[in-house]
Amino acid sequence: MKRSYLIFGFLLLSRLLQAEEVPKTLLLTWEGDPCTTMTAQWLRGPGLGDRPEEGTGEVVKWKEVQAADWKTLKTSASDFPDPEKLGMPRWGLVRARWHDLKPDTEYLFKIGDSSEQGFRTAPEKLGAGVTFVEGGDVDVLKSSAQILKVGAQEDPLFMSVGGDLAYANGHDVAREIAFWEQWSEVARAPDGRIIPFVAGIGNHEVKGGYVQEGATFAQMKERAPFFYALFGGLYRKEEPVALDFGDYLSLLLMDSGHILPIPSQTAWLKKNLEMRKSVPWVFASWHVPAYPSFRTWKHQKEIVQAREEWVPVLEASQVTAVFNHHDHNLQRVETEGKAGRKIPFLGNGALGVEARPQQCPESKELSKAFSQSDYVNVVQLRADGVTVRSLGPKGEELDRLEVKERAAR
Ligand SMILES: [Fe+2]
Repeated sequence: MKRSYLIFGFLLLSRLLQAEEVPKTLLLTWEGDPCTTMTAQWLRGPGLGDRPEEGTGEVVKWKEVQAADWKTLKTSASDFPDPEKLGMPRWGLVRARWHDLKPDTEYLFKIGDSSEQGFRTAPEKLGAGVTFVEGGDVDVLKSSAQILKVGAQEDPLFMSVGGDLAYANGHDVAREIAFWEQWSEVARAPDGRIIPFVAGIGNHEVKGGYVQEGATFAQMKERAPFFYALFGGLYRKEEPVALDFGDYLSLLLMDSGHILPIPSQTAWLKKNLEMRKSVPWVFASWHVPAYPSFRTWKHQKEIVQAREEWVPVLEASQVTAVFNHHDHNLQRVETEGKAGRKIPFLGNGALGVEARPQQCPESKELSKAFSQSDYVNVVQLRADGVTVRSLGPKGEELDRLEVKERAAR
């Protein structure tokens, strides 16, 4: 008996020694249709493994879980921005892109000789239901890792983070790397598969935080080098992004004045809501809240503009709810409904930051729930309704919202 343990132990050890480490910053995200594509990316350089030589990418082997044979996927590599070392970037970004995948299917992949990693594509139909998790304002802290883990344990299809990811302010590359190391560690569903990250932009992704007077789109993108290096494949155009999951879910990822001015997106929002009239569950998400909880209604231009430009458009639409962030606590409000329906606004971003008190008198009047706490939203979509549970750092339920299907509202 002892002997067989020993042999097993030896085999396990030699296998572990043979296997290369999984890249410490491995991150999965979507640049296209979540049902049929996936993008994996990771950094190489000091502390993160050797950078591949010019022209030779790292090799990724992959297959559908059920398949017998492994296929090979070529990766591409580019310099990762290194604003403090202009001209000599220390880190490189490696990227593997999958196309033409099957919806609702599990895949395995290996980077070099790494252990097997898994991911799942989004289903085309809602079926028995889909769950995703949502939040904003993360940072690199024990408390951030904790609340992200609470979200990961809910077995979500993906995690949406509405801005202020690493607080790297477009220049602190070490902080940016530490953030993706943290995410890579916690982005595991209970079955071990990697949870894809859907990114939104916030002021702390951008040098100066907000659109500069007279700056072009290209000039503004240069002020958010890490965000566009990682997510420029999704944010290609000078407009917000609509991410559609089959025929049942759409996320409208708006920019609250960081790269794009708020008024420049209002017509897009109206058009894209109109185009998705038949989609049962549509959420808009952006960073600076229309209904702040810590700041006041007139604290900054973006708060006023989001409320004046976008709330009437949303109230006149069939949107399910809106995710806001930036004020670092849990506050759910219901809009006044002056332009149509009353819309739930789920805010205001606290995935591990120090939670602030509720001190906005105007929003308090519309407030349906508040907690001075970190939280992650767990959004469960079904054909007959949506349940949003806001969980705190210990997994405790801080708030719950039930939304009925459209015909029954
Ligand atoms: Fe912010």
